[in-house]
Amino acid sequence: MKRMRVRQALGAEAGMEGMTLCGWVRTKRDSKGFSFLEVNDGSCLKNIQVIVDADVPGYELMPEINTGASVKVVGNLVESPGKGQTWEVQATVIELIGAADPETFPLQKKRHSDEFLRSIAHLRPRSNKYGAITRIRSELSYAIHAFFRDRGFYYIHSPIITGSDCEGAGEMFTVSGFDFANLPRKNGQVDFSQDFFGKRASLTVSGQLSAENMATALGDVYTFGPTFRAENSNTPRHAAEFWMLEPEMAFADLSDDMDLGEECIKYLINHVREHCKDDLDLFGRFVDKSLFATLDSIVDNDFVRLPYGEAIEILKKATQKFEYPVEFGLDLQTEHERYLTEIHFKKPVAVFDYPKEIKAFYMRMNDDNRTVAAVDILVPRIGELIGGSQREERLDVLDARIKELGLNIDEYWWYRDLRKFGTVPHAGFGMGFERMLMLVTGVTNIRDVISFPRTVSHLEF
Ligand code: 4AD
Ligand code: MG
Repeated sequence: MKRMRVRQALGAEAGMEGMTLCGWVRTKRDSKGFSFLEVNDGSCLKNIQVIVDADVPGYELMPEINTGASVKVVGNLVESPGKGQTWEVQATVIELIGAADPETFPLQKKRHSDEFLRSIAHLRPRSNKYGAITRIRSELSYAIHAFFRDRGFYYIHSPIITGSDCEGAGEMFTVSGFDFANLPRKNGQVDFSQDFFGKRASLTVSGQLSAENMATALGDVYTFGPTFRAENSNTPRHAAEFWMLEPEMAFADLSDDMDLGEECIKYLINHVREHCKDDLDLFGRFVDKSLFATLDSIVDNDFVRLPYGEAIEILKKATQKFEYPVEFGLDLQTEHERYLTEIHFKKPVAVFDYPKEIKAFYMRMNDDNRTVAAVDILVPRIGELIGGSQREERLDVLDARIKELGLNIDEYWWYRDLRKFGTVPHAGFGMGFERMLMLVTGVTNIRDVISFPRTVSHLEF
């Protein structure tokens, strides 16, 4: 079926005859001798208005053409006398493809609560808000590729099944071919040597280690794909399955890393503002009235670059009471991150040089032997959007760190090889893709920027 998208029709330069449109009915109004349909096909936020005269073939089915039904319309694109639209369709044929029972179709009202829509995740893409989110998500993915391609980075695909725990936090889901009713055991422990891979395997928490591998051959690379965390954090910012963007640059240090992160965030915001105007407007009007002011201030200002030690001093002097303690050596919590970005500086802040105890084994040791070359880029409303670092490229220092943390050095043989053979300073970061989407749309719950969220105690479909 050759069909025209609503998006194309609404953007047409001139009228047209004999076009075909398909979509879902959003509303119907019956008048004497004709009916008005508002039809949406997901190609854009706007509906197209269709006028169906009573003598049009198919009109007899109008009682069944209700909100939610799918229809095919053949007709002519004509200038619309109505306000707020340039074009409308004068139908010559109307065809009902699939009816939707008005008694049971759940999306009848114009606005539903986020909670209700989450409970019908299979239908919520047909609402304005989730249609818009999905289109912005698609455009933002494209923008990521455009940004890195322009800068000479290669897109690599890091594996999803892995044998190593990149972050060393043990928050991994096990991947197994075992029959769980019949687990092979040895000395009281599950014997993973008999499992599919001959050892314990997991879903990856980050593609970084593979990215380091490839960056130390191709120079600048990025991976962008799903990552998984079995952390029991039931917050509006954590999902068990989320997408992460991870660039990795050879011959680069922490300062290059912060430059890239800042440039990337600004580019992505600008891109979405330019290419998703209608969809983004919806969020500026109905979700967060201060959205555009926030986005402007991120794009127009230099990010603050603040050593972790100074961040702790600022937080200690804050008059605001925090739930979690502030002390050198403790990790920053979302409330602290939001204080820095929303109240103290009123813009994004790159906090760097964290105490080694609270960061992963691979981060480059600073000369003070106490902090590592790590950076978290914090943004208003979200807190941590990016976590990155310069990597430890000195074999002896890396080995000492692996031993100090009690990790099994044999498992890192290939990672150590990268330091043995032509080692180079290199750096990279991970950006939570859903958190970036939350930032550009003002949506406050991660469950509402992923089509099918996977969170603690929640797995639908
Ligand atoms: O700070 P994280 O844990 O860093 C890493 O995994 C590094 N290996 C990345 C790298 O250097 N290549 O995670 C990076 C980002 C966080 O800043 C956050 O935005 C997002 O990933 N993130 C999550 N997003 C949603 N749900 C979760 N459970 C997340 N955990 C991390
Ligand atoms: Mg982090």
